[in-house]
Amino acid sequence: MAIVAPSLLAADQMNMGRDLKILEDAGAKWFHVDVMDGSFVPNFSFGYSTVSALRKATKKVLDVHLMINQPLRYVENFCKAGADYLTVHVESDTPENIEKTLDKITEYGVKPGIVIKPKTPVESIVPYLKKCALVLVMTVEPGFGGQSFMADMMPKVKRLKEILSELNPDCLIEVDGGVDLNTSVVCKENGANVLVAGSACLKAEDKTAFINALEK
Ligand code: DX5
Ligand code: ZN
Repeated sequence: MAIVAPSLLAADQMNMGRDLKILEDAGAKWFHVDVMDGSFVPNFSFGYSTVSALRKATKKVLDVHLMINQPLRYVENFCKAGADYLTVHVESDTPENIEKTLDKITEYGVKPGIVIKPKTPVESIVPYLKKCALVLVMTVEPGFGGQSFMADMMPKVKRLKEILSELNPDCLIEVDGGVDLNTSVVCKENGANVLVAGSACLKAEDKTAFINALEK
């Protein structure tokens, strides 16, 4: 069974609390929170004050995706704000600092994750996999919701599953970008067990049915 993490980037920003409640009532157990700095990606979104407000509003899992340069500078804030999972991009700093960042997240009692952009090979994250509770494979270029799913990322998911079965079998494999009723099928077939869904989930007329279908 897969975990579905609706992305709050697709929520109505003036009615975040209302959308959170609608998604909880529809069965969401995780929420995906996108953090962008206007530098690592050409867009802005939420900061740690949003994570902290969400923490007060829900007991569900907060899966915080940092799309920021040199995340080591800010992980303390995001951990203290109440993230359950905190994921950082392998492309966002030097290997030495990425290692330090994952360790720091763990020290705060938060589950660390590593993210790879579409053009980044799986091999680049292998050195960190033992430290990770989750690996996120981007299925769009990070920065914006509502983009088309890149099916050519599926061999990466499959390869990662093979590598993790040796190195860290408990590590979750998450996909993010363009995931909907159709594209979720191939993600699960290749080994993804956490599915981020932004536009498709928030636009679904029957969100309970949408979440149930993806979970299967
Ligand atoms: C993109 C973000 C995604 C985004 C996904 O940079 O990381 O989490 O919200 O949105 P959809 O599901 O609409 O592609
Ligand atoms: Zn994301």
